[in-house]
Amino acid sequence: MLKHRRSVVGLDVGSSSIKAIEITQDKYEYIITAFAHVDVAGEQGVRDALADLFRQGGFRTKRVASSVSGKSVIFRYLETAKLPDDELLAAVRAEANKYIPFDVDEVQLDAQRLVDVPAAEGVEGAKEQMKVLLVAAKRSLVQDQAQMLTELGLVPVSIGVDAFALGNAFELNDIVSPGLRESDHTVALVDVGFTKSSINILRNNVTYFAREVAMGGQDLTNAITRRFGLETFEAEALKRDPQDQIAEVQDAVGSVLDDLGNEINLSFDFFENQFDGEVEEVYLSGGSALLPFLEEGLEKIFEKRTRVWNPIEGLKVKSDNVDIGALNQSAPQLAIAVGLAAGVA
Ligand SMILES: Nc1ncnc2c1ncn2[C@@H]1O[C@H](COP(=O)(O)OP(=O)(O)OP(=O)(O)O)[C@@H](O)[C@H]1O
Ligand SMILES: [Mg+2]
Repeated sequence: MLKHRRSVVGLDVGSSSIKAIEITQDKYEYIITAFAHVDVAGEQGVRDALADLFRQGGFRTKRVASSVSGKSVIFRYLETAKLPDDELLAAVRAEANKYIPFDVDEVQLDAQRLVDVPAAEGVEGAKEQMKVLLVAAKRSLVQDQAQMLTELGLVPVSIGVDAFALGNAFELNDIVSPGLRESDHTVALVDVGFTKSSINILRNNVTYFAREVAMGGQDLTNAITRRFGLETFEAEALKRDPQDQIAEVQDAVGSVLDDLGNEINLSFDFFENQFDGEVEEVYLSGGSALLPFLEEGLEKIFEKRTRVWNPIEGLKVKSDNVDIGALNQSAPQLAIAVGLAAGVA
């Protein structure tokens, strides 16, 4: 039935697990037509895991939308004279060496217009300015990713960054379930993964702030390892299913959670200073959002309404090809994969 529709696989190659979700757009409907989620063991394991996943996952298309992240992707905020959209990227590129620690020729750049800033009053010749978000990813990182996917017989149609994908997923949520949220709210999306957390602050579905913080579930597990004197895999199991030890686990990760929350709060402060607005609500995703007390713990630190959200809510599912139980269980962990697919679907 859906044979001739456009499908794309949102492929989130995380440092602990690969999430692949195939979304097929049929007029105004978005349908999950395939899904797979597998753990990876180190860089070496990624290629094999991907090969297996596409051999067995029942994906109908080879078109994949994936992302890069980590230290080689940087976000910068700058102010420049107001320019039309079609001149923005070239202008930013010409000045990029002022803002990024890499050679401009070694990076792939993207620039997004944010808000306009009125000309300074009483200053002769002052012109209207605008704020711009600049994203630079090392070209070699993007090329390596594209090459690996191509060698696996896949067709990479886009390679984005996690923090933006998060924004796209949230926007898709709004498209398929309109009216659920107040549209003019300023929200922060926070995806807590394994090695890092991605932050995206949105207002009216426009990204105003994006950043990665190098903290995540790995740090929580390490705290448990230390406190209980366990091996990593034992601490991981205890974290995921603490049962009657939940109070001790919560206590063991307390200071790590505080550090993470405070670091994220610094991003909220930066946004609030730059854009004269306030983050009103926080939406959590990522594998670490499956931790039962993350919501409550971070809400205390942020002093803002903080909820785990479901990025597949409102999407249809092709149930004869998708393990719905597994899909729902991973749901909060799929935000970036959904957003990568949504960005091109
Ligand atoms: N049920 C659970 N309870 C608590 N934590 C969980 C649960 N399931 C997974 N996690 C944690 O989620 C983390 C993995 O999340 P995720 O898949 O979002 O990360 P990733 O995308 O692989 O990593 P990164 O984005 O940092 O590269 C791990 O630290 C894991 O311990
Ligand atoms: Mg991730």
